Amino acid sequence: MSQKSNAMTEPHQQQAKSLDHQVSLKFVAIAAVANQNALGKEGSIPWHAPNDLKFFKNITQNKILIMGRKTFESLPYVFKNRHSIIVTSDVKKFWESAKVIQLFSGLNQNQISELVSVESSVEKAIQRAQAVYSARLYSQAPLSQFIIVAGGGQIYKQLLPVTDALIVTQVGLDVSGADTFFVEIDPAHYQLAFEQALQKTPLPLTVQFWKKLDPKGLASHTSAPDFSDDLLNQIKQACPIL
Ligand SMILES: NC(=O)c1ccc[n+]([C@@H]2O[C@H](COP(=O)([O-])OP(=O)(O)OC[C@H]3O[C@@H](n4cnc5c(N)ncnc54)[C@H](OP(=O)(O)O)[C@@H]3O)[C@@H](O)[C@H]2O)c1
Repeated sequence: MSQKSNAMTEPHQQQAKSLDHQVSLKFVAIAAVANQNALGKEGSIPWHAPNDLKFFKNITQNKILIMGRKTFESLPYVFKNRHSIIVTSDVKKFWESAKVIQLFSGLNQNQISELVSVESSVEKAIQRAQAVYSARLYSQAPLSQFIIVAGGGQIYKQLLPVTDALIVTQVGLDVSGADTFFVEIDPAHYQLAFEQALQKTPLPLTVQFWKKLDPKGLASHTSAPDFSDDLLNQIKQACPIL
């Protein structure tokens, strides 16, 4: 190990760096939302929108995601190049679930630890996000300060009080029998900062970026530095020019 990396692992320095970076994390919810705020039906997303999946993949690269157990179990595979924190009330039962065992098949323990953590509350998930971010800060593959709140309905709702921004793909579709819904976006708390069509046909998709207003109802760009410029650039890069 080099002198430099030895110095990096001094416990007090690690702790100072970890505290230093706790404050810089930003929570960003990403959701695809159909008419009447529909998110899901019977445990899955009731539309097929490959361009939105590509957008999601682009924007979430090298980021930490927080998601509910039901959303994780709805995935076709475990996301690579990201760290997913899964929230469940029963961690032991989670690891014993047939769907979870199938999702992790072919991965060894190191790969699993690199890709996921499992926590028993949203508060512990936030603490885990801070720990994973700090632990990877000086690695070869550091993770973004933007922590992605990836759903589903229960997790968006519970993490809304700490959510600094929303990236919403509006899906022009009526979903009959939807059973999971996105939070109402309150214009008193969020300002639409960017909007761009991702696809016009066959299914209209429009990406929106909502920034949280400060408690006085002012746009957060009044306080410097503004984290959202960096995020907005990432969104623009992930949106194809139509
Ligand atoms: N359109 C989109 O962008 C989008 C994105 C994500 C998901 N979805 C859809 O949303 C649906 C799933 O959403 P959902 O609201 O039903 O479920 P969810 O939020 O994905 O997961 C709910 C589960 O998370 C755990 N959980 C939630 N809060 C917790 C807490 N405070 N402490 C401990 N555990 C907690 C519980 O797991 P246990 O039961 O194990 O305790 C709970 O059953 C699916 O249809 C999915 O396809 C859509």
